[in-house]
Amino acid sequence: MYGLINSALQGMIREQFGEEQWEKVLAASGVPEDSFLAMRSYDDSITYDLAGAASAVLGAPVEACLEMFGEYWVKETAGKTYGSLMDAAGGDLVEFLNNMNALHDRITGTFVNYVPPQFEVESLDENRHRIHYISQREGLTPFVVGLLKGLAKRFDTRLDIEQMEAVAVTSGEHTIFEVTVT
Ligand code: HEM
Repeated sequence: MYGLINSALQGMIREQFGEEQWEKVLAASGVPEDSFLAMRSYDDSITYDLAGAASAVLGAPVEACLEMFGEYWVKETAGKTYGSLMDAAGGDLVEFLNNMNALHDRITGTFVNYVPPQFEVESLDENRHRIHYISQREGLTPFVVGLLKGLAKRFDTRLDIEQMEAVAVTSGEHTIFEVTVT
């Protein structure tokens, strides 16, 4: 994944747990020190190793670390560095998610050959929606939980994840979130 992701994870750990903890995470991960150039693409294993090391050092399940990272990504990385792109993607949670693929598409010129996920929204009624998260990668559904929670905060709306269903796929991951947005 692009170094932007790794450097955001680094930023979160530094800001929320301090430099000393970050140094421990970096050492435990075993990843090279030059894994954080925002506009360079790195092997996905670097991101997974960092998340695994964060889990071990901070003493929290990796799912909890990824979820925390999802919220941080929306608020700090996307919200601050890519504010105008985020603003243009929608004024409420559902509109935003419907524009999510277009948002990732718009930056293919910047992040060459990157592999973003797909989101599809099926609206059941005004408040109930089925959000499909379709990725070529595995294990990032907890990150999406955090992203959704971060977006709910961004739009000052209440989001209840009623159910999460893993769809059987031959590779990658497809999760359906049944949510109520009020
Ligand atoms: C405007 C800000 C955003 C930028 C610049 C951005 C860019 C990126 C980049 C560079 C990657 C790594 C993919 C790769 O290197 O192959 C990525 C992955 C990802 N993005 Fe975005 N993104 C943004 C906003 C969002 C938002 C708001 C969401 C939430 C719905 C989101 C969901 C994801 C997920 C889940 C992944 C992980 C990859 C996967 O699931 O396979 N992104 N994004």
